[in-house]
Amino acid sequence: MNPTPLNSPAKAPARSGLLRFLRSASIFLRGFIEHPAMVASVVPSSQATIDAMLAKVDWSRCRLFVEYGPGVGTFTTRILDLLPPEGRLIAIDTNPRFIEFLKRTIDDPRFEAVLGSAADVESIVREAGHARADYVISGLPFTALPEDVARGIVDATYRVLRDGGAFMTYQFLPTARDLTEARFDRTDRGLAMWNIPPCLLAWGWKDEAAALREAAE
Ligand SMILES: C[S@@+](CC[C@H](N)C(=O)[O-])C[C@H]1O[C@@H](n2cnc3c(N)ncnc32)[C@H](O)[C@@H]1O
Repeated sequence: MNPTPLNSPAKAPARSGLLRFLRSASIFLRGFIEHPAMVASVVPSSQATIDAMLAKVDWSRCRLFVEYGPGVGTFTTRILDLLPPEGRLIAIDTNPRFIEFLKRTIDDPRFEAVLGSAADVESIVREAGHARADYVISGLPFTALPEDVARGIVDATYRVLRDGGAFMTYQFLPTARDLTEARFDRTDRGLAMWNIPPCLLAWGWKDEAAALREAAE
């Protein structure tokens, strides 16, 4: 039997996948050591958490997806796997180390990594040439943010979403879920047990009735 050459295309994805994983784990850990309160976890989210959160997305209707606090891209790469060819993903993070890593490792014309705060989502979306977002997912450590900043981010998110769109959060503590329930018209709850530590999930839906009326017209 012929041995597979070292540079064969069959081997490259596995090797580059492992390399990306090792590099991303070390960058994530450095990000945590430098800004423990803002990163808030030493381990990225689990695959089970990612799958559970994204299961409620209607990908056929998704033109703009926004991600807050992507870190090293644990959700980002999966969102890009599922996003339609005409869809766009904007990831916003305050940590330049994470943004530089995402720009260097994700080569996809549908993707834009923005160094900035989720509080500025409306201007970021507008400057990228979009009127509204279909979905916003947040990995932000809401409990570590000043209360007015946290509330401001949830308010700006409500405004930037289209009717029928959703704000999705995953957090160890209930802060993000409580803020979502206070602002959004309907909220679904979930729990990801296979995460370190287990994680509370929430999907806040914006005015689904208006979206249905619009679709019927
Ligand atoms: C717990 S980490 C989430 C990492 C990743 N999404 C995951 O699931 O593994 C929190 C992230 O939020 C970012 N962050 C904190 N405050 C922010 C803000 N106001 N706007 C955007 N990103 C922020 C941090 O830099 C960090 O990347």
